[in-house]
Amino acid sequence: MFHHVEPYAGDPILTLNEAFGKDPRSDKINLSIGIYFDDDGKIPMLPSVRAAELKVVAAAGARPYLPMEGAANFRTAVQDLLFGSDHAALRSGRVVTIQTVGSSGGLKVGADFIKRYFPQSHVLVSDPTWDNHRAVFEGSGLTVESYPYYDAATGGLRFADMLAAMSKAEKHSVILLHACCHNPTGVDLTREQWQQLLPVLKARELIPFLDLAYQGYGSSMDDDAYAIRLSADAGISFLVANSFSKSMSLYGERCGALSIVCPDPQQAVNVLGQLKANVRRNYSNPPMHGGQIVARVLTDPELRPLWEAEVVAMRERILAMRQRLYDVICTRLPDRDFSYFLTQRGMFSYTGLSPIQCDRLKDEHAVYILRSGRMCVAGLNNGNVEATATAMVDVLS
Ligand code: LMR
Repeated sequence: MFHHVEPYAGDPILTLNEAFGKDPRSDKINLSIGIYFDDDGKIPMLPSVRAAELKVVAAAGARPYLPMEGAANFRTAVQDLLFGSDHAALRSGRVVTIQTVGSSGGLKVGADFIKRYFPQSHVLVSDPTWDNHRAVFEGSGLTVESYPYYDAATGGLRFADMLAAMSKAEKHSVILLHACCHNPTGVDLTREQWQQLLPVLKARELIPFLDLAYQGYGSSMDDDAYAIRLSADAGISFLVANSFSKSMSLYGERCGALSIVCPDPQQAVNVLGQLKANVRRNYSNPPMHGGQIVARVLTDPELRPLWEAEVVAMRERILAMRQRLYDVICTRLPDRDFSYFLTQRGMFSYTGLSPIQCDRLKDEHAVYILRSGRMCVAGLNNGNVEATATAMVDVLS
């Protein structure tokens, strides 16, 4: 029956993470997947999140189905976090938000929405982008192309080329943008660059689709939402998928959302209706538990500041690891420029290592980074940073 089903080639991130799990070497180091590990190499259970969960469990009653769009308290709390609670777009009823199965689920529901209402649109993703973006949009039947982004020569942004590509894009092209902490490069637009980019997107009637998976890992919660708020201020219609996997260390609970900012409240009603229809066709309605934890953290006056402080601590630990790795490698290879470790933001560093060098890191040193050269610096700790630096120096020498 299934002889025509071809073998799965595997996923560049998740399959490598599985290979790490099976690696019998006791000194192995996992810098592959985008997960924050603490200094003991453990995925943290944040005290704010644990306290919220205990409150949710204590209050738990019957488990009816959630509405197709998810829990109302979760959706409102997400809107306040993304836009700021008094944003005019929220007050005027132009923003619709649904609870999704992680932000990947938000991307998928958004991709299906685009395919249905803008079937001719192409999706433009940054070069490079998260390894799964292309697959999500192609999986919805859309054509995916790329726009210039990362400059390998300088380790910076090809902003002029990016703008030029937007200026040529067809009307209603979807422009996938990373709101902060670009994955995989860690290179973000500055505020001034966002201010230059958005009028171009608006003038050409392009459809921005912002992906915000790392809120709080760049600078503050508010700063990391800058591009979202600026787009809403500018009267642009756009989509945004956001995640609590990293910011609340709730990976397996699959807590995310999809928001669409519409031109007016009536269109917003119809857009929400079609998002609900899409969810019903796919998985009917989202799960309850994780979203209630998120809603509790975001709205509890004691837990909210505790959580924000915990995110600051995670961010600062990553920065300390960036500095440590930089110091050790620079001492051993003083003639090369490794300043990218310090300037790139968020969980990742784009090392410029070739696939062969990445394979050598894994095979000879049990250090796992993606074959694109992306290293999850959030997997470094005081116990493995020296060994990682030594391994990198070896494959670079
Ligand atoms: C990553 O980029 O490693 C994470 O976002 C995990 C994933 O789903 O790929």
